[in-house]
Amino acid sequence: MFAALDSIWHVGLPFAQTDGFWLPGAATTDPAMDRVFYLILVICSLLFLLVVGLMTFFLVRYRRLPGRKAEKTATQNILLEATWTVIPVVIVGVIFYQGFVAYMRMQTAPPGCYDLRVSARQWAWQFIYPNGHIDDNLHVPAGEPVRLTMTSEDVIHGLWIPALRVKMDVVPGRYTSVWFRADKPGAYDLLCTEYCGDEHSSMLATVEVQTREDYDAWLKDAANYLKTLPPAEAGKLLYKRRGCAQCHSTDGTAGTGPSFLGIFGKSQKMADGRSVIIDDNYIRESILEPQAKIVAGYQPVMSTYKGLVSDDDITALIEFIKSLSKKSPLRAPTHSVDRGEGQGVGK
Ligand code: CUA
Repeated sequence: MFAALDSIWHVGLPFAQTDGFWLPGAATTDPAMDRVFYLILVICSLLFLLVVGLMTFFLVRYRRLPGRKAEKTATQNILLEATWTVIPVVIVGVIFYQGFVAYMRMQTAPPGCYDLRVSARQWAWQFIYPNGHIDDNLHVPAGEPVRLTMTSEDVIHGLWIPALRVKMDVVPGRYTSVWFRADKPGAYDLLCTEYCGDEHSSMLATVEVQTREDYDAWLKDAANYLKTLPPAEAGKLLYKRRGCAQCHSTDGTAGTGPSFLGIFGKSQKMADGRSVIIDDNYIRESILEPQAKIVAGYQPVMSTYKGLVSDDDITALIEFIKSLSKKSPLRAPTHSVDRGEGQGVGK
């Protein structure tokens, strides 16, 4: 019986590509979540109307009138009691079944998924691609099932992509996974949904759904930036892609960490009273062992990037920070227009 009900239910509900009143537009043609949501919404709305309707009716029908005597309270009615027990049980059963089907669909990745890794940290997402490239935005090929295997380096984060109807906690010390199939090319929001500290609200990323060709071209190009760009330019990209920007500004504004503007070569007072010159070695140490020397006035909240950045990455980052201390700020070379945004994105 359930199978028959299920097939009726799964036919004829078109998925909304544009934003609706209740849900944002979906980028997938298989939004099992939407069915459950609308099912519960409809059932709850009908029950609400029924309850409020009956209340209003009884208020009017049995209101106090001069000369009217209160009727005797009924004590037992087997038929009535059976009815109001059986009907809710059936309703709960239907909701459970639909929820269970949608949950299993969400949990069970189809064979042949395209696998990507996700690493979350305070307060940035890192998407790790099969060729080793790490990016702060998620690029996926359209029309193919994609599975994300996720873990956190510090506290619990939550990965949420409303347009793809997936949401899953990202937990330190273990792996969680989600899968989805993005059918509609475009850019979609990705958010963190577990309160994870200071900059939780800026732990955002973009999901770029691209055609297979665009995706392959992007990935090949994206992984090469260390070789093709001047070190300071590559460092600027890394600064954005690895989440440095969440805590360290480049305009002098103090954030969770010190701003990078004009710090290179300066003497800084540390929390333990020492003075330290901000040079290549200090920056290298601060990336690999952030707790070693904390600048006075800041909390020791940064976690290490050991194993996550290469020596070339560190050199590029140092060159970028150095470039922020020069009289004339970093100029974009003519051959590369800020490659941090939208390179090779098929729109
Ligand atoms: Cu990560 Cu909130």
